[in-house]
Amino acid sequence: MAEKAAKSRAKARKADETPLGPTGRPYHGFPTPEPLASHGPARIIALCNQKGGVGKTTTSINLAAALAEYGRKVLAVDFDPQGALSAGLGIQTHDVTTIYDLLLDTKRDAHEAIVHTSVDGLDVMPANIDLSAAEVHLVNEVARETILARVLRQVAGEYDVILIDCQPSLGLLTVNALTAAHGVIIPLECEFFALRGVALLIETIDKVRDRLNPSITMDGLLATMYDPRTLHSREVLERVVEAFGDDVLETVIGRTVKFPDASVSGVPITEFAPEHAAAQAYLRLARELVARGAVA
Ligand SMILES: Nc1ncnc2c1ncn2[C@@H]1O[C@H](COP(=O)(O)OP(=O)(O)OP(=O)(O)O)[C@@H](O)[C@H]1O
Ligand SMILES: [Mg+2]
Repeated sequence: MAEKAAKSRAKARKADETPLGPTGRPYHGFPTPEPLASHGPARIIALCNQKGGVGKTTTSINLAAALAEYGRKVLAVDFDPQGALSAGLGIQTHDVTTIYDLLLDTKRDAHEAIVHTSVDGLDVMPANIDLSAAEVHLVNEVARETILARVLRQVAGEYDVILIDCQPSLGLLTVNALTAAHGVIIPLECEFFALRGVALLIETIDKVRDRLNPSITMDGLLATMYDPRTLHSREVLERVVEAFGDDVLETVIGRTVKFPDASVSGVPITEFAPEHAAAQAYLRLARELVARGAVA
């Protein structure tokens, strides 16, 4: 009996000595989220960075799938004319109702554009190249910055989380995403110049907060494509933490070829290689966001 108690004390002590993670803070596992008794209304999160190729789409897909795996009802909105999120989830975007059709006609039922994916609990609002005309079409609309917010209001009651995968620009579409969102996640590639442009992005978020969406919060900066073997990856992460402190999410996404491979297969990494560290990283990110209160 005493031996058992001593063993459990030793175990508790060990648990206290949480090792430090790549951000220099204790590397928590974060508890598995409790199942939800009911669903909705959704918290809307925009994944935003005007720098291209930093992991916005990869994070949208895999965070969405990870949250769905924890029983959350998730809608991933493809808000980039490249349609990479739709393709990455195996959805064809020709001859279907897309987010663009909803933006042009906000009286149209937003449910028309929702597509189920192979992942239970994960739906997508697809986009295709048509969306590239949206900025031109919407520029003369009344309240042109709030059009996406009005579209998403129709379906928000049915989801726990809505993730918006933004295009790499700070134009009208991104401003629409920031206006519709409760929070924003900024993915940052652990490469030189990662911080270039982030000040401008944060200035844009501040302007949107001032003028359009007073309650938008920073849900966190997410370091992606981290390679612990390279000095510069570690240095970049150190700089990011210096600049943004606790706004940097503890979860860091490592660089691995599994992501492009999964995209080609049209499934999230949690389905493509569930045991791989990369899948585990996005599951951990989902747990961290629940623990931070960014997601129900
Ligand atoms: N952690 C990672 N390790 C290795 N490759 C990755 C990782 N995350 C993303 N990639 C790859 O990097 C490329 C860019 O990623 P992704 O499309 O997610 O970025 P993005 O910010 O959405 O780009 P864009 O600005 O063009 O929309 C893709 O080919 C993707 O497969
Ligand atoms: Mg993208």
